[in-house]
Amino acid sequence: MLASTDLETAQSLLSQAYLPSTFTSPVRAPSLDVRLNVIKIGRDQKSHLRVEDDSVSRMHAVIEAKPEEIQIIDLGSGKGRTLLMASEYPFRRILGVELLPSLHEIALENLKKYSSQTQRCFAIESLCEDARCFQFPPEPAVVYLFNPLPEEGLATAMRNLESSLREHPREVYVLYQNPVLRHVLDSTASLRYVASAQYYLLYKSNCT
Ligand SMILES: C[S@@+](CC[C@H](N)C(=O)[O-])C[C@H]1O[C@@H](n2cnc3c(N)ncnc32)[C@H](O)[C@@H]1O
Repeated sequence: MLASTDLETAQSLLSQAYLPSTFTSPVRAPSLDVRLNVIKIGRDQKSHLRVEDDSVSRMHAVIEAKPEEIQIIDLGSGKGRTLLMASEYPFRRILGVELLPSLHEIALENLKKYSSQTQRCFAIESLCEDARCFQFPPEPAVVYLFNPLPEEGLATAMRNLESSLREHPREVYVLYQNPVLRHVLDSTASLRYVASAQYYLLYKSNCT
């Protein structure tokens, strides 16, 4: 089973990120305990992520943390903020894809300069590429989206992910922060909605 590190990353991100601009006050998102190795999702009161939907069972999913097996892909990685935050966890690999050369260059500088005694992942790569053309590596992954693309672009990226999943069925989670275009992910047949917290949604590939 793929890890809850996506949730840990989300927690880490959400606890540090300001709310999207559609919100007016700088409230911070609530937190999960990032030390958890197992995250329970469901209607049960004791779930770590409670989903209040009758179609969801009391214990809908249990996600175990195995960060060393996971690669994180940040589509629209900007100056590398998320790449560096994720590097505090022992992920197998962290990959960023940024369209704008100017931001990509800053990300490269930031990756070079970053110094943290608690850094756990050093396999970090930032690519200057259009996320709409990105070829997903054929391995399990957590794809992080901080609302990087307009509707058509997001649909294209999700179609690419679907063809990649058809060719290489595997566990892929999509963690979508500030999910203003959630209908695009909801209508992506190879993904299913798993859970949400205040400012993000989590989807998982259907093929496993
Ligand atoms: C909201 S920022 C998120 C930055 C970063 N992921 C973070 O968490 O701080 C969205 C980023 O997506 C980038 N972007 C927009 N369209 C893109 C595309 N087609 N391909 C790759 N990146 C794109 C933007 O340049 C911007 O840096």
